[in-house]
Amino acid sequence: MTIDSNPIARDSSLAWWRDAVIYQVYPRSWADGNGDGIGDLPGITARLPYLRDLGVDAIWISPFYVSPMADAGYDVANYKDIDPLFGSLADADALIVSAKDLGLRVLIDLVPNHTSDEHEWFQAALAAGPGSRERNRYLFRDGQGTDGDEPPNNWDSVFGGGVWERITEADGTPGQWYMHIFDVKQPDLNWENPEVHEMFRSVLRFWLDRGVDGFRVDVAHGMVKAAGLPDVDASTTFNFEGRPVPTNSHPMWDQDGVHEIYQDWRRVLEEYNTNGDPATDRILCAEAWVEPMDRLGRYVRSDQMHQSFNFPYLDAPWRAADLQEVITDSLRIFGDVGAPASWVLSNHDVIRHASRLGYPVGEERPIGIGADDSQPNAIVGLRRARAATALMLALPGSAYIYQGEELGLPEHTAVPDDLRQDPMWERTGHTSRGRDGCRIPMPWVGGEPAYGFGTAEGTDTWLPMPEIYGALAVDRQEGVADSTLEMYRTFLRLRREHQLGSAHLTWVEGYGNDVLALRLSHRDMADDVVVLTNFAVEALELPAGATVLASSHRLPGTALPQDTTVWITD
Ligand code: NOJ
Repeated sequence: MTIDSNPIARDSSLAWWRDAVIYQVYPRSWADGNGDGIGDLPGITARLPYLRDLGVDAIWISPFYVSPMADAGYDVANYKDIDPLFGSLADADALIVSAKDLGLRVLIDLVPNHTSDEHEWFQAALAAGPGSRERNRYLFRDGQGTDGDEPPNNWDSVFGGGVWERITEADGTPGQWYMHIFDVKQPDLNWENPEVHEMFRSVLRFWLDRGVDGFRVDVAHGMVKAAGLPDVDASTTFNFEGRPVPTNSHPMWDQDGVHEIYQDWRRVLEEYNTNGDPATDRILCAEAWVEPMDRLGRYVRSDQMHQSFNFPYLDAPWRAADLQEVITDSLRIFGDVGAPASWVLSNHDVIRHASRLGYPVGEERPIGIGADDSQPNAIVGLRRARAATALMLALPGSAYIYQGEELGLPEHTAVPDDLRQDPMWERTGHTSRGRDGCRIPMPWVGGEPAYGFGTAEGTDTWLPMPEIYGALAVDRQEGVADSTLEMYRTFLRLRREHQLGSAHLTWVEGYGNDVLALRLSHRDMADDVVVLTNFAVEALELPAGATVLASSHRLPGTALPQDTTVWITD
């Protein structure tokens, strides 16, 4: 089904990114163009018309750079070339051109906190020795203790274990330590060093010159560490996959110095839009797991980034009061600095929301699910996920969709442990199953090998696909009235038609504690859209005279059942 969607030609008075719906493509798992079981750039290009038809405005592609793939590409060995696994620079150029032809903007992933240990800079640093210019591009330190065999401080790595790794010097003696806040193969760069700044300016320009519309910035809150790298109190823990403590109290996160970097990058981006036409804005989006939310607002001040993922929204429990609070805070905090709020429910680092919402309300979000862990309720999870998406797509600002959520894909909760790829599984001593379950290849055609993910005759994919993905494949849902895919298409179309991304939100009183009721008004639209989400066991009678635009599940008459969202005009 094709729908008319040419976002680039839309309301030119509004910068495109203020209300854009941006679809995350995880290249390993989107579409496999050469049949090796791993997705690639030609695969993405071939499937782009699907995204135009879905009705999104832009894509964000997770890393595709040269990489030993110790962290699925978030360990970059060369920022200016494509890993052969994914294709070539010519394939990237072709992808960008095709996307633009279809009216889709393209964001790519920038990984500036760390490189791969196979990056030429790190290899040179190992060879060059203590005190060298080469070592000063990373965070090398001498160890503590009489033989230097104690790590320089007590910080924990996000992936488990400590953040320090000791090297062997070229002469064979035990040497200095380097910091890696993620995997040991991801050494942290030294952002006190002007050479690092210069390198990333040139990376930005390299990709802007090739036509990208912006960057999602990995670990945007981690690049600058507190001076002196002080020890932390043992009770101060933070894990981007778990619930964070207030991050500005941790010397590894959210240091004020990061903002100077983004001011500098904003200037680089603006060189590419000298006439100030909002249609040619290039943007930055922060991946910053920062709390409290006021701190997140600092990343999107008008001289820095354009957007920041709203992780407090992703983490909000499925309860009316919690959602009302986080939506209100988001609109206020982002609005105070003139930025659009952004909304997100899933990505490649968290349990898919069709499964996450299938756990009892308020329960801590797990980090990966194994076959012997407590399992989410799939029916409740999908029902709430559809209602949550229908709510999210009504909210003013920009929304992010993670590939496959439009099919209602659940987490794969039974990946055999010996097939797990996420370094978290090993580094935590097999206590955290990690993020493989949300990174399973996309099912395109239910009846084909690997559900149409690739061209291969076989069914081998880099992560195994669960059987349920066959029934949820794109071809099984296209044109099926109540399918999750058609639901996404409908809400995306209505969001655009009613200009909800740039509408004004007011809360509607009188529905009680278990209903979220909001009104969206737009100065150019005759009718307001009222959005109701019912969290109560009892169905809610819709207001008399309401016209239903769409609902997250088919409505039985004029009542709104539990865990259902409806858009109406009154
Ligand atoms: C955040 C990315 O989203 C995640 O996938 C990655 O493992 C870490 N940053 C390290 O780059």
